[in-house]
Amino acid sequence: MTGASSGIGAEIARAMARRGYSLVLVARRADRLLAMADELVTGRDIRVEVFPADLGDGEERAELVRSVERTGLRVDVLVNNAGASTWGPVHGADRWAELALVRTDVESVVDLCTLLVPAMVARRRGAVLTTASTAAFLPLPRQASYGASKAFVLSYSLALRAELRRFGIPVTALCPGPVMTGFAAAAGTTEQDLAGVLPRRMWLAAHEVARAGIEGLERDRPVVVPGLLNRVASLAASASPAPVVAAIVEVARRHDERARRH
Ligand SMILES: NC(=O)c1ccc[n+]([C@@H]2O[C@H](COP(=O)([O-])OP(=O)(O)OC[C@H]3O[C@@H](n4cnc5c(N)ncnc54)[C@H](OP(=O)(O)O)[C@@H]3O)[C@@H](O)[C@H]2O)c1
Repeated sequence: MTGASSGIGAEIARAMARRGYSLVLVARRADRLLAMADELVTGRDIRVEVFPADLGDGEERAELVRSVERTGLRVDVLVNNAGASTWGPVHGADRWAELALVRTDVESVVDLCTLLVPAMVARRRGAVLTTASTAAFLPLPRQASYGASKAFVLSYSLALRAELRRFGIPVTALCPGPVMTGFAAAAGTTEQDLAGVLPRRMWLAAHEVARAGIEGLERDRPVVVPGLLNRVASLAASASPAPVVAAIVEVARRHDERARRH
């Protein structure tokens, strides 16, 4: 499972360990993965392997899959959870940060599915859980690449699900609203800034989101949006004209930015 070093991914790893899964933990921060592995194996009869890798790098992804094969572990459940955002308008964006986002949030999901799903199909056994976002349901000014990336992985996940249905392999897209994790800081903003734009009741804890994702996969749900308010907001966004939604978000974010400056 990817993105296991913090936030939602760490909670998905904990939830899976409680269910008795052995795990392969992937992220860049090796120290955090090792600490997580220690925590997960304690008192449990499971195996936890740690593979530090930058998932935005195609060579590192290929080496990751080879390393997992060498351990003799079989990937029965692929959790594509690693992801990050940038923050700010496209006209002020850093080219390399934007491309790194697309490589991690989009390319790595496509690559890991392409590398690992064939063996699941051959065994007629497996499952795929991918963390998208409620950002998948609307264009997101100030996070244009992120919103588009999540729309991509939602669409990809639903298409993959349709293909794998006849092999009995469930595929679920987890679409969280805002969650207090390291995500905002990694995007160059703060949860306080985001909280200014998003109602408090939309915010859920990482463990609640992780539980909803795992239970959604177990129940073979195509899409899981944790939290009633997030479900309502996502439905409203999907049902509204996208240019209007984009314009409203841009105005709200610009207004909030001005308010914070004064
Ligand atoms: N927090 C939210 O409000 C929210 C809402 C909706 C969706 N999501 C999605 O939820 C997922 C998890 O995010 P989070 O909120 O739990 O944030 P987080 O605490 O920052 O976790 C992100 C995880 O992704 C890993 N990661 C990021 N870039 C990576 C790279 N290039 N290579 C390997 N691993 C990488 C990070 O590990 P390292 O830094 O150690 O590499 C970390 O484990 C993401 O896909 C995010 O888009 C978050």
